[in-house]
Order: sequence, then C-alpha cells, then structure tokens
Amino acid sequence: MKRICAASWLISAALLWQVPATAQSVTIPVETRNNALVFQTDANKNVGIIYLGSKLADQQEYNQVAAAYKQTTDYSGVANALYSTAGTRNLFEPALSVTHADGNNSLDLQYVRHETKQLDNNTSLLSIYLKDPVYPFEVTLYCKTWFNEDVTEQWSEIRHTEKGKVTLHKYASAGLYLRANSFWLRQYHGDWAREMQPEEARLTHGIKTLDSKLGTRANLFQPSAFMVSLDQPATEDAGTVLYGAVEWSGNFRVDLELDNRDNLRIIAGVNNYASPYTLASGEVFTTPAFLSVLSTKGKGEASRKLHSWARNYKILDGKGNRLTLLNNWEATYFDFNEDKLKALLKDTKKLGVDLFLLDDGWFANKYPRNDDHAGLGDWQENKKKLPNGIATLVQEAQANGVKFGIWVEPEMVSPKSELYEQHPDWVVKQPNRPEHYFRNQLVLDLSNPAVQDFVFGVVDNLFTKNPALAYIKWDCNAIIYNAHAAKLGNQSHFYLQYVQGLYQVLKRLRAKYPTVPMMLCSGGGGRVDYAALQYFTEFWPSDNTDPLERVFMQWDYSYFYPSVSMSAHVTDWGKQPIKYRTDVAMMGKLGFDIVVSHLEEKDLRFCQEALKNYESLKPVIWQGNQYRLQSPHDHAVAAIAYLNTQQTRGVVFNYLVNNRYEAGSVLPIKLKGLDPARRYRLQELNVYPGTKSTIDSSKTYSGEFLMTVGYNPDVKASRASVVLEIIATN
Ligand code: GLA
Repeated sequence: MKRICAASWLISAALLWQVPATAQSVTIPVETRNNALVFQTDANKNVGIIYLGSKLADQQEYNQVAAAYKQTTDYSGVANALYSTAGTRNLFEPALSVTHADGNNSLDLQYVRHETKQLDNNTSLLSIYLKDPVYPFEVTLYCKTWFNEDVTEQWSEIRHTEKGKVTLHKYASAGLYLRANSFWLRQYHGDWAREMQPEEARLTHGIKTLDSKLGTRANLFQPSAFMVSLDQPATEDAGTVLYGAVEWSGNFRVDLELDNRDNLRIIAGVNNYASPYTLASGEVFTTPAFLSVLSTKGKGEASRKLHSWARNYKILDGKGNRLTLLNNWEATYFDFNEDKLKALLKDTKKLGVDLFLLDDGWFANKYPRNDDHAGLGDWQENKKKLPNGIATLVQEAQANGVKFGIWVEPEMVSPKSELYEQHPDWVVKQPNRPEHYFRNQLVLDLSNPAVQDFVFGVVDNLFTKNPALAYIKWDCNAIIYNAHAAKLGNQSHFYLQYVQGLYQVLKRLRAKYPTVPMMLCSGGGGRVDYAALQYFTEFWPSDNTDPLERVFMQWDYSYFYPSVSMSAHVTDWGKQPIKYRTDVAMMGKLGFDIVVSHLEEKDLRFCQEALKNYESLKPVIWQGNQYRLQSPHDHAVAAIAYLNTQQTRGVVFNYLVNNRYEAGSVLPIKLKGLDPARRYRLQELNVYPGTKSTIDSSKTYSGEFLMTVGYNPDVKASRASVVLEIIATN
C-alpha cells in the first residue's frame, strides 16, 4: 500500500514539476567536429542542458534524448539549468545568486532569444539572452566554440536596470550538466615544489569544490584545471572525458555536484569568497570564461585538441619561436656582480643557448636585494653589484652574440623598501592589524590605478632604457593575507579588481611590446592558467627541477598545456647525471640554470650537442602532436612521443623512474599516431660522449609494427634516459 502511494505521489509530482519541452520549445544544438552540447527551453522558458556528448548525424534526434532517460523526478524542473539561479525553484548549487535593489533574493532567468555568429571558419559564438519576468534583470550567456578542436568557452554578462544596486553573491561563468553511470574526478593538489600532484576518485553525492582563496599565486595549493571521466576513468586512448578550467588568475571555484538523480552539475568561475559584487544599474558585469574540451576517445585526444587550441588561439605567440636560455638563479642566487655576470654571458655563448636571463637580486640600494628580505619594489639597479647598470650587460650580451633577459616581480613589495616607506597605502594590508608575510613580502594593491601605472612602469622603464632587452621573467611569490586595499571604496570588490588590474597592466604592456617573450612564474607554478597565458609565451611549472620529479610534473601539466609553453631547465637538483637532466628538460622549452664553467668537458660537450639536437627537433616538440605512451605513475619507464602532423618525423623520450632490481624497458613500448603503412627508422640522440647507443638505427619498421608490437628503447639503470628520433624512410 505504502509503495503504491509513493508511486502515485511520484507521478503527480512529475506532472506538477517536470515541465516538458513543448511544441514552442527551442532547441539549440552547439556542434563541433565531434561533439554536441544541446540546450533546450521548457514550457517555463527556462534553458536546460539536454545533451553533452558525441554529435548525432540527425539534429532532430536531440529532441528525443530526454525521453530516453527514466530517472526519478526532477521536482524543481530546473535541475539541468544551463545557468542555475537561487531563490526560486532551483534546489541545487546556483551559478548566480543575487539580492535585488528592493532586498528580494529571488531570480528566475527565462529565454528571450538567441543568435549565433560565425566569427571565422573555425570559431562561432552563441549568445543566449535571458531575462527575469519580474525584475529588470538580464543575463547573456556566451558559448564560443572552436570547431576543429572541440573546445568551448562559456561566460556570462550580467546587467540590470533596477532602481538601486543589486548584490551578486555568486556569479559563476557557466554550468554544465552530465549524465552517466558514474563520474571520476581527476584533480590536482600541491604546494611549493610539489605542483600538479594528481588524485582521482569517484564522485559521491553532494558537492565537491575545487577552489582557491589565495588571491595571487592562486594555484599554490590547487589549480582550477580538472578532468571528469564518465562511467569509468578514461585511459589515454579510450573513454569519455571532459577537461575543464577557469580562465582566471585569482580566486576560482569549481563546484561538482552529484545530485539526487545521479547527474553531475559543474558550476565554475570566479570564487565568490569574501566577494559579493555590488552591481550598479546599467553596469555590465562580465565573468571570465570557463574552458572545456570533451573527448570520447580518451585523455590523449583531449590533450591534443587542447594543445592545438592553445597554440593557435590562446597562448601568446603559440605558433612562434622560443629562446633557449641560461639562467643565473641557481648558479649565483643573490650573490653576483658585474664581473661574475660578464663571465656568465660568455658561458651563455659557449653553451650555445640564445639568451642569458638575469634573475632576482639586481636591484635596490637603500635596502639592497641581497636576500629575499628586502628591496622588492625598488627597481633601480643596485650600484654596488651593477655600477654600470643593466645597459652595460645588455651591450655585453650583444657583444657575445646572445640576448639578454631579466627577472622582475613588480606586483610585490618588501616591508624593507623605499617603495613601502613612500607608499604605504599601495600595500595590501589591514590598517589595524599586524602584517603577515609570505616569503617575507607583501602584495601591492593592483586595484589602484596608480599602482597599475607603477607596475606597468617597472617593465616599461626597463625596455625604454634597454630597447634590446629580449625576455622578461615575471614572478609573483606572495599570496594575499589581510586582504584590504586602502583606496578601494568597496572592499568586497578587491579580489576581483586585483586580477582585473593585473590584466589591465598586461594588456598595456602587450599593446606596447606585443611579441617580447615573457615567462609566467609564481614561485614555481603558482599562476598557470589560460587567461594569463594570453600575455605570456611560457610558464614556469615548478621550482622543483629534480628531473625525476619533473618527469611526473611535466607529464601531469601536459594534460592541459602544450610543451611550447612549459619552461624546463637543467639544474643541479636531483641525483641524475646531466644527460638525464637535459633529456627531461628537452620535453619542454629548454633552458639551463647551472654553472657552465663547473661542467666537466664531456658534460659540456654533451649539452652543446643536445642543444643542436633540440634546435633541429624543437618544431616537432613544440608544434607536433603529443602522445603519452607510458605513464611514470604506473610503469618503471615513462615514455612520451611528439610527432609532426605529416607523421614523418618524431621524437620519443624514455625515462627510468624506478630504481628497483632490473627495472627497465622489459616489454616493448607501443608507439601511437604513426602511419601504419610507412616505414620508420629509430635513431638514438643525446648519446653521452664516449658511450655507444644500443639501438640499431639501420633497421626499419612499419608504423603498424611500432604501434602493435612496439619499440624497445633499452632503458635500464645504465641507460636511464633514452631519446629516440623517429624518421620515416618512405
Ligand atoms: C621564485 C622563482 C625562482 C626564482 C626566485 C627568485 O622562487 O620561482 O625561479 O626566480 O623566485 O627569488
């Protein structure tokens, strides 16, 4: 009896609450080469997501998707909302929650119209206009898609014409809604020198939140980048997997909510933590973009699509050249002078890299920058260390036939600095509370236009005085404590306006210096995201350059970022020989941070030879397709290949990551992405002077053989890293 009652209650609840699509309902399929994201209005004109998956040949069939699911009742009727609101029927996490000018907390967004613009032959922009039927409150949802790459960016614009101000309590960029038997979240955590540590788990009911409240250096504990596999954890080559990330360099928040019907709602955007936004009548609030890419053929394909998109459309000069370099950070730390640097400039040439990068410690006089306790903010050359200034070094570099680059950390200030003394109101700190430092420093208030001018000026002055300056390393070492900006009217806007201020500065710099390469560094990988990478050519993944650690880290970053953007330096971290260290750094954008004059003759010769190999292979490593062949997480040998798009040339990096008895490449490793019908030769590169390769480069194999049976790089303790060039012979 009880059962029947429950069932009949459910049926009537369904009739009452599940508003079906009607004849008037509007279906909006957003299709890319392989996928479709389909929106549909219901009888209440609410827009829901009815489908996200492989695209169907017949668009009409999207209308039949909903009926194929016999899930329990959606009491609210808006569980699948494209942009969920608060205060009306929604029972789940909202994307947008507001208090209207009259104090009312409810919001209902109804479909008004939509339009699609073809921006170019690969890119289109869908705009969906939504309006509240009761309040003069509107949202435009944008969905930009790159057809060939299956990449989507979603963001929103929020405005109203109410009589008074509206408070936005939460203002996510976008939502997604997925259906599957189970969902597997792969997320990343970390700290200084431990960036991008993966964890994977099945999502349970309720909300899992990935977020940052650090303000600057926002990725120190975790990035917003994540992946969700449907039904089972995707492998490199199989399974449905969605990658997502917020394009924002400050506090972010990603909510993954598994609801009572076992469906997954993803709501992503800026973190609303301590940040209710007061929106004036007529003002337009634009959220940053939520980026996603879906693959039904595993993680490898998702990465290749994202890499291609990033190189073609996002990263500054993603298809362009990059400079190999010698950095002095670990070679000297703060302890250098003009003579030492001049010697390093000679070493730069001797080594055979393009540029010398002068790191921290070159500035400040009243409080000299001799360690990390003083001087940040006083960007004048230190007269003791550099009596003739940077200009002499730039000239000296030119005389040596190399370029010159420099480190700055313009967003920050040391409490012991003239800048702090002169402009205490430029410093982020609470007026009545003790200061709290991160790496002995504080953050400047980039929400203040005067500070924006100052920060712009730090870099602009360097270029004005030294037009030949060829590279900037832009660092950001502190997080924000005691968030308070002296000149800001509404403190709740601080976190947002800090990041907007940063982007203003970067935009101004790029307008004046459009192409000069800049490295995005944040005490390692504390700031790695696609909003910032529009202004930077590369990022610094981690201060941890132990090559064994880097095999893992670069592997995990590679899910989201192409190698052309990933700086990797050979340093003295780790116990591995120079060959292993160099082979690992060659997977990314190669640099060195060693004392060249301390290298033994053979080590130096090896590095010089490796740089020549890199010069020849860099187009393949940077612009080719990446195939992760064997994971360091579950094999003794990690292997990653890069292949040019013509499938005629490639390189495969193999590293021993386990030192147990007889660990090595016992089984062959299967290549991917080759043309099965072609024949290929494998030739070992970066062979250490005085040793012999055990690879027979005269043999040829069909692509089919290399992908079915595999190749054996002969990795073992005595050959701990092996670089093989793949060359098509027909
Ligand atoms: C940060 C960077 C390092 C180096 C130091 C200099 O830690 O990540 O590469 O530039 O600052 O202080």
